[in-house]
Amino acid sequence: MYSVSSFFLLVGLTALDGVSAWGTLGHATVAYIAQNYLNDATETWAKSVLSDTSTSYLANIASWADTYRTTTAGKFSAPYHFIDAEDNPPSSCNVNYARDCTSSGCSISAIANYTQRVGDGRLSAANTAEALKFLVHLLGDITQPLHDEALDTGGNDIKVTFDGYTSDNLHADWDTYIPQKLIGGSTLADAQSWANTLITQIDSGSYKSVASSWIANSNINAAVTSATAWASDANAFVCSVVMPNGVAALQKGDLYPTYYNSVIGTVELQIVKGGYRLADWLNKIHAADIAKRSLEGRDEKLESRMAKAAPLPPANKPGRAQLAREAAGGGCGCDKHKRH
Ligand SMILES: *[C@@H]1O[C@H](CO)[C@@H](O)[C@H](O)[C@H]1NC(C)=O
Repeated sequence: MYSVSSFFLLVGLTALDGVSAWGTLGHATVAYIAQNYLNDATETWAKSVLSDTSTSYLANIASWADTYRTTTAGKFSAPYHFIDAEDNPPSSCNVNYARDCTSSGCSISAIANYTQRVGDGRLSAANTAEALKFLVHLLGDITQPLHDEALDTGGNDIKVTFDGYTSDNLHADWDTYIPQKLIGGSTLADAQSWANTLITQIDSGSYKSVASSWIANSNINAAVTSATAWASDANAFVCSVVMPNGVAALQKGDLYPTYYNSVIGTVELQIVKGGYRLADWLNKIHAADIAKRSLEGRDEKLESRMAKAAPLPPANKPGRAQLAREAAGGGCGCDKHKRH
């Protein structure tokens, strides 16, 4: 029933989703949740940095970094979407910045870099917008457990069947197909509606009592420590939820519905955390850097913090998963979601 053009559109979107962390649905949902919790001053600033006063100012750019990494100019940023924790799931899960972040960078070093750059004030408008677009994307990525895991290239090499699709991989299912199964689509309207449901859960539902714990360790002056805590939090789910019985157990039959039912609560939790943390992070950057500068003019403490270059990632050897990614052409090696 599909017309030829919508067929190509679907293929195109699938290919784009293949290199995403959360797919477009997940990233836009994180962005809409964040929009809800930005204070007025931060919202005004973000709209002006992005030159977008629409009601989707963060959602519109939430997947920009996934497109950018596929370009020649943006290739350097491909490692920024994940950290390859060299742990040993399901028996032992952990993230170690010095061990796992390679000299090409990782999500943690990139978050520290763009946190410093977005508030710097000395960068061009384009560089400031770039930094904000990266933060909107990477604070989503870091909550996806398989973006904090080296095993089988973050699960990209784990072939599974999900909902009748026999050549899926576990990573793509977590990014895209499990969320889409829940919501039934991947448009901005779908994301807004999912975000609204989750926002209600924060304001008056099951997340109300825990939301403050998601931002308890968020300190923009210690961005590496903060982002490492977020990565560790997500990575722990690799052992407890993503593959509690190891890889082979995931390859015994269709992951829908039993596995889906066992993970969907964690998928929602990680999306909602990403959005809530992003808002808090941007509010803090705005208050500490942008508002302070415009109120007081030149601020020596702020200037001296900004004059320090963002921390370089540890000069590590490339890890196993990084070498595998490079061998696969730098992409994630994701399979297309095809029904057989
Ligand atoms: C920080 O971001 C800039 C601009 O994208 C990039 O050129 C630089 O390599 C990054 N530095 C680190 C340490 O990630």
